[in-house]
Amino acid sequence: MLYSEKVMDHFNNPRNVGVIDDADGVGEVGNPICGDIMKITIKVAADVLTDIKFQTLGCGAAIATSSIVTEMARGMTIQDAVAITKRQVADELGGLPPVKMHCSVLATDGLKVAVDDYLKRTGREPIAGEILSENPAFDPHGEEDEPADTAEACEL
Ligand code: FES
Repeated sequence: MLYSEKVMDHFNNPRNVGVIDDADGVGEVGNPICGDIMKITIKVAADVLTDIKFQTLGCGAAIATSSIVTEMARGMTIQDAVAITKRQVADELGGLPPVKMHCSVLATDGLKVAVDDYLKRTGREPIAGEILSENPAFDPHGEEDEPADTAEACEL
């Protein structure tokens, strides 16, 4: 499988790894198929993400997409941050192999859950919409151009 140079860079040198101790919001999500998990913590001021960190226990694509999403979201409003799509995450990395597109769902979902947690803590309504990885009917491989054997794809 051919990963882009940028994917390899973010996998080998992930940005913003860790946990913000006094976070304003926390998002923890898991991929129901492969069992990979991700945690995002955020600091928010006037609805702008001022800091963001992640911890991901998962495949190379999950780590790279988590890393890039923290760079994309830092400085964004919470409204813009929850609108980041898995396609945008993949494009920002110079593309992902089709069988690894589903891995970027963890990154966007983790961010969404963290933003909604922040809003909940401040007594406001959630804005993130559907959290794909929490939907039991969600098929992580369903949108792939060339559906691959699930177990094989998750090993890569
Ligand atoms: S997120 Fe599990 S295989 Fe990539």
